[in-house]
Amino acid sequence: MSWQTSGDFDKVAILDLGSQYTQLIARRIRELKVYSEIFDNTLTVDEIREMSPSGIVLSGGPNSVYQFGSPEIDTEIFELGIPILGICYGMQLIGKVFGVGITAANNREYGKTELTVTKPESALYAGLNPDLICWMSHGDITPVLPAGFIATSHTLNTPVASFENVERRAYGVQFHPEVTHTPWGKDLLSNFLYRICKAEPKWQMTDFIERNVIEIRQRVGSAKVICGLSGGVDSFVTAAIVDKAIGKQLECVFVDHGMMRLDEADEVEQAFNEHFQSKLIRVDASDRFLSKLDGETEPERKRKIIGEEFIRVFEGEAVKLENIRYLAQGTSYPDVIESSGIGLHAHVIKSHHNVGGLPERMNLELIEPLRDLFKDEIRALAVELGLPDAIAYRPPFPGPGLGIRIIGDVTRERIAILQHADAIIREEIIAANLYDGRTRAFGVLPAIKTTGVTGDARAYGYPIVIRAVTSDDEMTADWTRVPYAVLDQIANRVLNEVVGVVRTVLDITSKPPGTIEWE
Ligand code: XMP
Repeated sequence: MSWQTSGDFDKVAILDLGSQYTQLIARRIRELKVYSEIFDNTLTVDEIREMSPSGIVLSGGPNSVYQFGSPEIDTEIFELGIPILGICYGMQLIGKVFGVGITAANNREYGKTELTVTKPESALYAGLNPDLICWMSHGDITPVLPAGFIATSHTLNTPVASFENVERRAYGVQFHPEVTHTPWGKDLLSNFLYRICKAEPKWQMTDFIERNVIEIRQRVGSAKVICGLSGGVDSFVTAAIVDKAIGKQLECVFVDHGMMRLDEADEVEQAFNEHFQSKLIRVDASDRFLSKLDGETEPERKRKIIGEEFIRVFEGEAVKLENIRYLAQGTSYPDVIESSGIGLHAHVIKSHHNVGGLPERMNLELIEPLRDLFKDEIRALAVELGLPDAIAYRPPFPGPGLGIRIIGDVTRERIAILQHADAIIREEIIAANLYDGRTRAFGVLPAIKTTGVTGDARAYGYPIVIRAVTSDDEMTADWTRVPYAVLDQIANRVLNEVVGVVRTVLDITSKPPGTIEWE
């Protein structure tokens, strides 16, 4: 076992004991500019000695340390003299290693909890207020201190909410410093890194890019890599890294299904041509997609048709290319979670993120440089790579595009109307400074006709729904309180400028119970 990088900076090893937050720990440490990597809990003391990390973090985990078969660590790592921080389950494991019986707590603690720091002189709490709010999620507690340890904080139901043995360089916290619900958690982690591990904040995103570039070059050799571009930030950044590594050995295929936003396909092509050494294969497949969708109104069927056709077109291009051995994909950490079944659109999103059975059918190996990263880290990479803001900060856009924002049968006429109205909505929201990483707006076209008056005559036309949402994580969203003046401007422009639209309406549904998209 070794680090994925050989860079000359401090590195922290995280031993994964099964917590849903393990990736978050890695990310927080990286945010503090110290390189961190997640390893299996079975790493041996010899492997760790060889890797020589500046610090070790034991993650939380869903089990109880005294359950049969619950994850363990090589206890000899405590002999290495490397600082170790145990979080939740990780703390209980430290307790177990040092010989303490852990029992089920009488009162389980979940959620926001008041914490009192009893040893403010502890390096872990340096500079922090002794009265804090932390995030707890546990059923077990450490009732008696292991020999040589001192308690450094408590909560109402947890007499030992954190402990330490400075001589053995072992620290444990029962709460979760990595989640944002523990607002000062990052300060605690920075104390662990800088004060206890004496790590220096030297790591940066450019190191991530450099490491991947070197790795991809070594792995690929003289073979070729294919990558499907969707216009989204994930596939663009993936392609940009591969392009940096192997230039013209990369073949990028951009399947234009004709249902992107106004001018978006051209913008993607332009951004590509300005930033890449390799050439883009742009396939205008809108006829194929639209004829397959003809008459289809059922949303899940539409999604499926678009997904399948995408794979077919992509595959059709791939077989024309020679010497392709690898498929580069922009799989990110949230995709990995979604693919494992969590999330509302799990199956749908998955079918758009990876091109079906292509890797097996064509015997391709996967390159997925973004697998461990969160969306905002990917956006930071995009900026680092010099990609335009339109790509770096592009809001999520569904793979099936306007195909699922037209409610009903998808036709060229309806696509053109929606593209135009949607562009106006976004323009005005941007002009009003409402558009940022959390808030976005778009149009929806329900394919029903409603009455209006144009000139002196009655006219039938479509309604356009103005959908603006504010969301942190896509799992929940609030409808955005767009000021009346901005809504008025949007409505006026859409009704005056977009032929075929006679009515505008505002969607004031939050998620849940609604979804962000209409279909
Ligand atoms: P919902 O509508 O479920 O959307 O609140 C959550 C996020 O997922 C996107 N989304 C999709 N992405 N294929 C995709 O690739 C789809 O079929 C799809 N449906 C929704 C949506 O835009 C939002 O960001």
